[in-house]
Amino acid sequence: MNRQFHRCFASTSTMFLWALFLVALTASYLSFQSFVDSGSRYFSASWGGIQWEKQVRNSAQIHRSGGMLVLVTGSAGFVGTHVALALKKRGDGVVGLDNFNNYYDPSLKMARKALLNSHGIFVVEGDINDAKLLAKLFDTVAFTHVMHLAAQAGVRYAMENPHSYVHSNIAGLVTLLEACKSANPQPSIVWASSSSVYGLNEKVPFSESDRTDQPASLYAATKKAGEEITHTYNHIYGLSITGLRFFTVYGPWGRPDMAYFSFTRNILQGKPITVYRGKNHVDLARDFTYIDDVVKGCLGSLDTSGKSTGSGGKKRGPAPYRVFNLGNTSPVTVPKLVNILERHLKMKAKKKIIEMPGNGDVPFTHANISAAQKAFGYRPTTDLQTGLKKFVRWYLQYYGYHHGKRVN
Ligand SMILES: *[C@@H]1O[C@H](CO)[C@@H](O)[C@H](O)[C@H]1NC(C)=O
Repeated sequence: MNRQFHRCFASTSTMFLWALFLVALTASYLSFQSFVDSGSRYFSASWGGIQWEKQVRNSAQIHRSGGMLVLVTGSAGFVGTHVALALKKRGDGVVGLDNFNNYYDPSLKMARKALLNSHGIFVVEGDINDAKLLAKLFDTVAFTHVMHLAAQAGVRYAMENPHSYVHSNIAGLVTLLEACKSANPQPSIVWASSSSVYGLNEKVPFSESDRTDQPASLYAATKKAGEEITHTYNHIYGLSITGLRFFTVYGPWGRPDMAYFSFTRNILQGKPITVYRGKNHVDLARDFTYIDDVVKGCLGSLDTSGKSTGSGGKKRGPAPYRVFNLGNTSPVTVPKLVNILERHLKMKAKKKIIEMPGNGDVPFTHANISAAQKAFGYRPTTDLQTGLKKFVRWYLQYYGYHHGKRVN
């Protein structure tokens, strides 16, 4: 045995061959391991790889002089889709990011994604809580702006799933801000806050300087927290921040969890709708804002955002911190909204009128938009009647209605 062993390694050249073989074996094992790793990462998060990077870079191509490079989070969402399309159409480089969660029907998100794809916009499938993905995106593209619209929306759902609000609107926001702070160059950030931060404020119209320390829902509280959190990143790291307080945005490709959308569905299906009424039989009213007007407000905000000043994670000087209402300035009561829908759908609604439970909704909203008007000429031009007509036309077409009858 010993002699055989001795014979086997008799010469140094044989020993050298054995050593080489062992090195090769180790190397192939390691490369196999990393293949398995990247494979599992690929399937669980579906990002990364040469092809993926190419799609990201293509999507980020700029087609106008002085164009911007914008990362749009929540790009398969309602506002995100419209903003991404508008940016792309005017020649900016746009990359989308969305986690396609199932808070509402993901097939609508997939349809919006297909629409974006058809305009050359790539939507990365991933979560804003994924710091590695964000670092990779900023590594791949030197984004000049981030339009941050990814969020857990909805007021009443917060009682069902409070943690999803903390996950997206607080933890996700911080992860995104960390990535922006470390990016070189730092992007300017425009993000979606909410008119719900005004909470129980009774002074009308709602102005940006009004108190926002009486939220009526966890959703509102997380958006208010977002305003404070973004302020600290502006203060410490020199990130340019613009927070937009959206007032009940509606229109084609809208969110199915919103009243105008579910009213339309129920009226068409002959099902009753629940209309909430405030205390003392006062009708609820909302400052409904048409999507095209909000998109103009988002682009105006991006165009006037001013630069972030930090680099290498350090502040080099003061950067802008702004908050704007994006509303319509003409509140409409919910019964009036139902009335308009009935006329557009040529069908009567079966109304169940119920006193509003204390579950997060506020009785009315009304925006003072003079700050946005002054900063970037924001001027909404679509009234509820006109906007709902466009919504209904989209709804009937998207869900396959023909002369009031569903055909597929
Ligand atoms: C609207 O907001 C501006 C500040 O942007 C303020 O000067 C003005 O007084 C407000 N208007 C009303 C009617 O509250």
